[in-house]
Amino acid sequence: MHKQSDRLSVLFSASEAAPFAKEGGLGDVVGALPKYLHRMGYDVRVVLPRYWSVDRETYGLRLLPGSLVVPMGIIGEMYCGVYEGHLPGSDVPVYFLEHEALYGRSGLYQQDGQGYMDNDNRFVFLSKASLELCKLLDWKPDVVHAHDWHTGIIPTLLNTSYLHDRFVGNAASILTIHNMQYQGSFYPGLMEVLGIGWKHFNYLEVEKDDQVNLLKAGICHATLINTVSRGYAHEIQTSEYGWGLEGAVRERAADLYGILNGVDYDEWNPATDRFIATTYSARTVKKGKAACKRDLQQQLGLPLRDDVPVFGVVSRMVGQKGTDIIAEAIHRILEMDVQFVMVGNGEPWAHFYFGDIAAAHPDKFACFIGYNESLAHKVEAGADFFVMPSAFEPCGLNQMYSLAYGTPPIVRATGGLDDSVENFNEATLTGTGFKFWNHNATSLFDTIGWAAWTFYNNPKGLAALRKNGMKQRFTWEDAAARYDELYHLAIRRRRGAEYYRNRFGI
Ligand code: ADP
Ligand code: GLC
Repeated sequence: MHKQSDRLSVLFSASEAAPFAKEGGLGDVVGALPKYLHRMGYDVRVVLPRYWSVDRETYGLRLLPGSLVVPMGIIGEMYCGVYEGHLPGSDVPVYFLEHEALYGRSGLYQQDGQGYMDNDNRFVFLSKASLELCKLLDWKPDVVHAHDWHTGIIPTLLNTSYLHDRFVGNAASILTIHNMQYQGSFYPGLMEVLGIGWKHFNYLEVEKDDQVNLLKAGICHATLINTVSRGYAHEIQTSEYGWGLEGAVRERAADLYGILNGVDYDEWNPATDRFIATTYSARTVKKGKAACKRDLQQQLGLPLRDDVPVFGVVSRMVGQKGTDIIAEAIHRILEMDVQFVMVGNGEPWAHFYFGDIAAAHPDKFACFIGYNESLAHKVEAGADFFVMPSAFEPCGLNQMYSLAYGTPPIVRATGGLDDSVENFNEATLTGTGFKFWNHNATSLFDTIGWAAWTFYNNPKGLAALRKNGMKQRFTWEDAAARYDELYHLAIRRRRGAEYYRNRFGI
């Protein structure tokens, strides 16, 4: 039986959590949401791999006594040690799985653009070890919260080999889909490692296109599912955005929710930001941004001009983010009197391509290829406009950051971008950014042209956009309140299922 206390307990199992390990927004979310649940009274704990990049000394990690025995099917039992730390600035425990052979490498998922060959075992291990950890902690979570394909198998494990487990057997499961494109699709033999029996290798559960699909397994088995915006929750039910899993999602449409991510305003706030040249507020935005713009131009070696609009991009350079349509439009964009800055890394072609553009237009275009936290903040503060032409965007955090920095975003109206940005209306001076709908270079170019025109000819409009944007608040308190409802609902569902099982003896 579930314990009756009101203090719900939730186990987060994920492949990233800022500041320990982050490649994208998933890390931001798992690094923030637990802190806000904790403030609401939750007993929330997080499990992560102890990647090499997670330095034990820096984070003051402490080795727990004992070790985990993780049943890996045909591979046999595998063991790992567990380090304990905390999400910085909180009492939320983070447990790091210490396994040299699986996690002792420089990358989280890949090296030199190649995914690790054993990512299946690395993340199945994370999923199983997360459940085994509860034994070591002598802890019975009410909910296990899985994220993306990496821990997508957890709901299936809870419904199969862990169904009668003393610690997690009663736990409800939530799967948050941060991205439908990456599904964790592996050879069928992985079933032997999962050890849940071949009968689950079927079209309604774990199998897709003759492969084991870990995300699909989660979609089919989770007590409840959510994505990170309402718009994306609708979109993934269509073939345009479902990446082949739209049917599986539609099956669960009644159990699917959309909860927009929050912004960690402790990190992303122009009034307190430690990375930017001058801090500023809505009252001082014009002066503050002018100083930050100079600093950005200086950092990237562009002419120090306050009379041209600076367009900024911070993102992974991949198809999802519209890097290809930026590449197509950039020549036309640079025919205008503008500056364009890009910070990011990803597909190798983009590194070469934009490197060449920078060499050809040193007075207008600059890029930094790589991951750079401080530059990301400088772009948010120093650019006049933030460009995010995504093909799809489950939530997107950078457009919300840019609103907070008085940097109107130029976005393709999709998923979380559509949900969080309101199109500029020149007549009423309402709206927070510039939107376009067709995912192509011409629409992007036209919209950037509109923003440039606004910069040159409509200072009142620009000032209104900045102020309107800075008033927006996407708080983690709001998001955590929605997750609180979701957890309660999932627990009720799981208890219902338990009742049903007992009654029918299954
Ligand atoms: P996604 O998770 O799809 O990459 P999000 O907008 O949700 O997109 O989150 C991206 C996060 O990663 C933001 O916090 C952003 O600032 C950060 N980021 C992305 N690329 C870089 C980079 N090259 N340098 C620094 N931060 C980056
Ligand atoms: C994914 C999505 C992004 C979202 C992030 C956090 O990486 O691509 O849109 O903001 O997850 O949920």
